[in-house]
Amino acid sequence: LREHEEFTKVKNIATIELGRYEIETWYFSPFPPEYNDCVKLFFCEFCLNFMKHKEQLQRHMIDGKKNKVYGQNLCYLAKLFLDHKTLYYDVDLFLFYVLCECDDRGCHMVGYFSKEKHSEESYNLACILTLPPYQRKGYGKFLIAFSYELSKKEGKVGTPERPLSDLGLLSYRGYWTRVLLDILKKHKGNISIKELSDMTAIKAEDILSTLQSLELIQYRKGQHVICADPKVLDRHLKAAGRGGLEVDVSKLIWTPYK
Ligand code: ACO
Repeated sequence: LREHEEFTKVKNIATIELGRYEIETWYFSPFPPEYNDCVKLFFCEFCLNFMKHKEQLQRHMIDGKKNKVYGQNLCYLAKLFLDHKTLYYDVDLFLFYVLCECDDRGCHMVGYFSKEKHSEESYNLACILTLPPYQRKGYGKFLIAFSYELSKKEGKVGTPERPLSDLGLLSYRGYWTRVLLDILKKHKGNISIKELSDMTAIKAEDILSTLQSLELIQYRKGQHVICADPKVLDRHLKAAGRGGLEVDVSKLIWTPYK
């Protein structure tokens, strides 16, 4: 951990060029030593190969759409914006879900999340990132919602890998709050945390902490009970703000990784 802390102190790459954006980075990322003297890196937005010079990138763009090391490069790029995460070079253990905006020039990556192929801790998402130029447009909530749809298909509950960053926690809290409030608003009669978890694939602990933060939980006779006064629900729903972009589950063609 100490080593990790030392690493995060000195930011190495100050800016990157990616597609039509020049982006200021936030944190250190352990690029190979030959990139140590680079203040700026040029990324191919399609295969994520990174180069020291713009001319190299221009040459590369001719045939750069195939690349075996995409996952590893994605991790290098992501680490520039992720503080608390260790970088896994062993990308074989993960699946990467990359979200793109598409136009007539091609598909432009806006963000991604990684997911362990097998998680013993019921993690359904390892790292999530929306690139800074695309943040606060609902893509984070979309990726989070998508990760829970995958968990539903697997018939499992899931939770994001810890620790969460401040922005990660804000985004997750926002997602959990909206999903739970929507159900509680529609549901008639009592509902348990277990039932909510079965319906949403959100882990019981995350449901409990979210409802506790909304003061919708009472502790009676040794049990947590949800107390959802409609007026309180309405107040919270108003404060919860916009929902994210909808995930159209009917378009999701996916089988769990075996
Ligand atoms: N200030 C205040 N609230 C914020 C901010 C911010 N800068 N960014 C996000 N939020 C909150 C808001 O409640 C927002 O909802 P709103 O816009 O309706 O108010 C909500 O989080 C999510 O907003 P989205 O637009 O859906 O999310 P975004 O596309 O911006 O992505 C993410 C969120 C992925 C956390 C992004 O901020 C990011 O990539 N950050 C850097 C990397 C990171 O910290 N990743 C999470 C690490 S933890 C993990 O990987 C398990």
